Amino acid sequence: MAGILTSRSDSMPAVHSSQTVSDALHTATLMLQRLSSSPRLDAELLLAHVTGLSRTSFHSHPERELPANAGWSFQQLVKRRMQGEPVAYIRGQQEFWSLLFEVSPAVLIPRPETELLVERALEHIDVAQELHVADLGTGSGAIAISIAHERPHAKVTATDISADALMIATRNTARLQIPNVTFLQGSWFAPLEGRKFDLLLSNPPYVAESDPDLAANVRRFEPSVALFAARDGMDSLGRIANDARAHLNANGWLLMEHGWKQARDVRDLLVRAGFDNVRSHTDLAGHERITEGRLPG
Ligand SMILES: C[S@@+](CC[C@H](N)C(=O)[O-])C[C@H]1O[C@@H](n2cnc3c(N)ncnc32)[C@H](O)[C@@H]1O
Repeated sequence: MAGILTSRSDSMPAVHSSQTVSDALHTATLMLQRLSSSPRLDAELLLAHVTGLSRTSFHSHPERELPANAGWSFQQLVKRRMQGEPVAYIRGQQEFWSLLFEVSPAVLIPRPETELLVERALEHIDVAQELHVADLGTGSGAIAISIAHERPHAKVTATDISADALMIATRNTARLQIPNVTFLQGSWFAPLEGRKFDLLLSNPPYVAESDPDLAANVRRFEPSVALFAARDGMDSLGRIANDARAHLNANGWLLMEHGWKQARDVRDLLVRAGFDNVRSHTDLAGHERITEGRLPG
């Protein structure tokens, strides 16, 4: 089996077009085993992308023959995955909050743990309320668009410093037909000069450049501007916490995602900036990943 798992393309087993779905998935799963923690899922997502068939159909009709040329195309995508490229960039898509987002190397791939930020934000917005919400550093638009989708009466403004990211985010709103989000380019609050909101959200860059825990493929493929922040990863979190007061209505909330070792520092930042009701929330792994605070009335 180790021979099959080599990453050298000249010794890769071919995924022939005459193969069945079951054979192609089996071979690809073996090939991806050494690199990925979810080799079968990766293989299924890539085969679905190439064939246009659903993953469910792979389970119900494993004996189906691959369509013409699909074997060769599938093999090219498996090769890219074997070189570490994330499945989401290969497919150009990632699911978040049950919505399908276009992604490219210009944007961070939206992560499941960020759904906790959306969940917490929704707790603060009644379905019928016409609240003003801002998402700072929107990337693909995952947070802003999910909130706007769940709360159609909310007016969501999303910013990013990256014009390329905003292009993807704008395309996502158009494709998902979300009318209540607008995008502005600039650094943090700069494009929001003179404006106040009821809710401020951000998943800013919070990784220290030297962080040894950062997975090599994340560092290699995802945009540095989305990952790294100075001052041990705390710089953007600090800037947002300090400037948020000027952009929040009385009793408004600030919610930020951060690294699992940063919760105490972020709570301190919010308390020092004058927020009350400061608390952190844990993700499914039991790590404190979201911290929120309220600006007193
Ligand atoms: C961790 S990513 C989050 C992307 C998206 N919100 C998500 O959760 O998937 C951080 C985002 O902040 C943006 N960013 C970095 N520095 C910024 C700055 N100074 N002002 C505004 N956005 C910034 C990056 O371009 C990136 O899209």
